[in-house]
Amino acid sequence: MNTALVSLETLPRTAGPRPWTGPFAPPVRPLDVLGVPGQINLDYAATAPCARAAADAVTELLPWYASVHRGAGELSKRCTLAYERARRSVAGFLGARPGDEVIFTRNTTDALNLLAHALPATTTVVTFASEHHANLLPWPAGAVRLPVPASPGAAVRALDAALRELRRGTDPVRPVLVAVTGAGNVTGERWPVAELARVAHRHGARIAVDAAQLAPHAPVDIATLGVDHVAVSGHKLYAPFGAGALVGRGDWLDAAPPYLAGGGASAYVGPATHQVRWASGPARHEAGTPNLLGAVALGAVCAALGDADRDELHDREQALLARLRAGLAAVPGVEELRVFDAAAPRVGIVSFVVAGRDSAVVAAELATAGIGVRDGLFCAHPLTRRLIAEAAARRGWRNPPATALRASIGLGSTTEHVDRLLAALGRR
Ligand SMILES: Cc1ncc(COP(=O)(O)O)c(C=O)c1O
Repeated sequence: MNTALVSLETLPRTAGPRPWTGPFAPPVRPLDVLGVPGQINLDYAATAPCARAAADAVTELLPWYASVHRGAGELSKRCTLAYERARRSVAGFLGARPGDEVIFTRNTTDALNLLAHALPATTTVVTFASEHHANLLPWPAGAVRLPVPASPGAAVRALDAALRELRRGTDPVRPVLVAVTGAGNVTGERWPVAELARVAHRHGARIAVDAAQLAPHAPVDIATLGVDHVAVSGHKLYAPFGAGALVGRGDWLDAAPPYLAGGGASAYVGPATHQVRWASGPARHEAGTPNLLGAVALGAVCAALGDADRDELHDREQALLARLRAGLAAVPGVEELRVFDAAAPRVGIVSFVVAGRDSAVVAAELATAGIGVRDGLFCAHPLTRRLIAEAAARRGWRNPPATALRASIGLGSTTEHVDRLLAALGRR
């Protein structure tokens, strides 16, 4: 990787015409999202629509399309600059501290697997049983799964007790990593990340936050939250598929073997087999030609969201969410899934079941009305099964559905979208 070739300051901001220029062009709002007329997308938690900012950034870069960190030509230099600028935008958006690293990955799953790969030997990982599979399955044998807590406060107390127990009689410098979600993908409920980080650090543990669902909806500031590692997915953050990031402390990553061995990750390769000195920093874990367009799209959304009034976006989303939840509660036979109290803070995600109805059939009926929701167990099988059983018990249903439905909203969602879903559910 030859970063000496390029300087971020010399990068021209744009190249090539913007789409829709001219006197009659609509105002360009970078946080507008793309979509298809007639299709109501209420499945943002799976994959959010592409933001105008991401589409524009990709369109502007395409004429310059060339190698990254591998060429001396003008095109290549520009691509390298754009890639590194994207890294800076992601760092800024997530409040990275000086010295923190941003490693581009394919998505959150990839980012958490990279972290798992880089754990020092003998690390114990502590999670909650309510996590997405991406934050349950990568961890090594011996990981501790705490029971699903009844409230955010109970989560903090359970972690405190578990870490105290773990430290009792064991080597106090033995590494411990707490891995928690920022917002659950089944219920949208927010986890008390800053408090969990304080508890983790008090016991000499580190904390990694799966911010796949939180970052699209609320600021995630590594420095303010006091967390060590954060993982995000571009495709949940209004950028296209194929780019995500692991952001945070670099020491474990710099000490680990490269995630992928190959070009870009090596600083020197000698003639003898395995005679290699690996690069440090992000390059160590980004072997092979990187996903330039994915990184640039993600960086563009991070910059646009970073510039946006997040309080206003939050208020708008919360108003829609309240309308959605109240509307669902009023549809006969519908019961919401939740881990915490109904009033606990959450992002724009609601999962629910419909009495006596197969969720896949309900989702298919909604699809014929042009409404896209998710059905299933949402890659959080242990949690979703448990929440379905609890929802059924609250309502006294004897045969709960095997799976649930999920509606999720974000930028570009409107009251009309919510009302159309509610009307369609009411017509069943
Ligand atoms: C909370 C959470 N973590 C991790 C993931 C995995 O994200 P990806 O599929 O982009 O790797 C998801 C995806 O739904 C998620 O909701």
